Amino acid sequence: MNKIVHINKIIKPFDKKINISGDKSISIRFAILASMANGKSVAKNLLRSEDVLDTIKCLKNLGISIKFKKNYCEIIGNGLGGYVYKKNLVLNAGNSGTTARLLSSCLINSNKTIKITGDNSLKKRDMKRIIEPLQKFGATFEKNNGKLPLFIKGSNFLKPINYKELKGSAQCKSAVMLAALLAPGKTKLKCLPSRNHTELLFKYLNIPTKIKKTKNFDFIEVQGKKKYSSFNYDIPGDISTASFFIVLTLLSKKSKLKIKNVNINPTRVGIIKILNIMGAKILFLNKKKYKGEINADILIRSQKNLKAINVSKKINSTAIDEFLLLFLVASVSKGISTFHGLEELNNKESKRLDWGFKILKMLGVKTKKIPNHGIKIYGNPNLKLNKKYEIKNFLKDHRIFMLSVIAATTLGGSWKIHNSESINTSFPIFNSLIKKLGVKLK
Ligand code: S3P
Repeated sequence: MNKIVHINKIIKPFDKKINISGDKSISIRFAILASMANGKSVAKNLLRSEDVLDTIKCLKNLGISIKFKKNYCEIIGNGLGGYVYKKNLVLNAGNSGTTARLLSSCLINSNKTIKITGDNSLKKRDMKRIIEPLQKFGATFEKNNGKLPLFIKGSNFLKPINYKELKGSAQCKSAVMLAALLAPGKTKLKCLPSRNHTELLFKYLNIPTKIKKTKNFDFIEVQGKKKYSSFNYDIPGDISTASFFIVLTLLSKKSKLKIKNVNINPTRVGIIKILNIMGAKILFLNKKKYKGEINADILIRSQKNLKAINVSKKINSTAIDEFLLLFLVASVSKGISTFHGLEELNNKESKRLDWGFKILKMLGVKTKKIPNHGIKIYGNPNLKLNKKYEIKNFLKDHRIFMLSVIAATTLGGSWKIHNSESINTSFPIFNSLIKKLGVKLK
């Protein structure tokens, strides 16, 4: 299926309030942790996108009972080590790296070989990063070439590990933390900082976890084999999906938008920090603490006179899914912006750093490659588009589709954007919300 959208008009000024879908990282973590808790857990506002639904399907294949009701999702956990491993079991993570990586680590005690696979995009992504630590715990991988499909067989003799996570990857860190639940003893991690939803959930669930932060590293210790109780969770809006609407408002004329109840965990809000340094005046209102997380309403107004920025590599992980949007903002800001150390972007649903160069070139924005996977963007505050633009063959990367819609509706030109169905991965209501703000999607 390839649904194409056409956009050839800039959005008119708007003043609106919206709600967005539940956070994807927290939704997947809720489902996985609930499946290993004892008893019934309930989530409100769980994201119902393909990535999360694929996680749910995999968990059902592992013998977990899961029901969707009108406003909530109910998961009956079988306790730690409670999955049912059928013969010739195949788990399909679809497009979701988080699902493949986090769920594999919950299988290190399986008594049968389990195949884990995914779609064409996921099959290209690196799995060595979780295979290595899971092997150290005692799991074995047959026919292993570092990519999906994985064939994992667990062990009865798991042991805790010491692990260094130096990519700043929350998926790798979380994979090791989840595997640690199944291994007797203390697993110790030294990690570059990254989103910390797993740590906050472990703390909330009273799983014995110690966390020490130093200037450059987080040190985490998890005591394995400790049962935990079922739990309820009200999932806040996703800052990564909100970001498309934040940038849309920022680059539109005379517009204002309030996005209600979004997760503003400090490990996720790099985009807000960066945009505010560039001259945006994005505000967090009505801040509330919730189970270790912080949620708030976000208020954005259109802003002319944005200025360039030099983004330090140190904060990359706090904005890891938002760089394409930041490249777009840099393209219309005054001066030369630089971004560094973005190797991981080429490890996402598509090669996003390469796509950044490609799309900006198509728009006539001057860019330069700099050492260590960096990009220099020569901004032009007067950038107006008036040509024809076609975006296709991007491995159905949801974020490339949504970025293109935002570029088309704020900068002009006549756009033909393929694979609209890609939004189902993370944000199925994206097109309807965009229309609600006045965009004509044909
Ligand atoms: C995620 C972590 C990030 C992010 C992804 C979701 C998570 O990936 O890009 O969309 O939920 O842990 P990495 O851990 O590979 O950086």
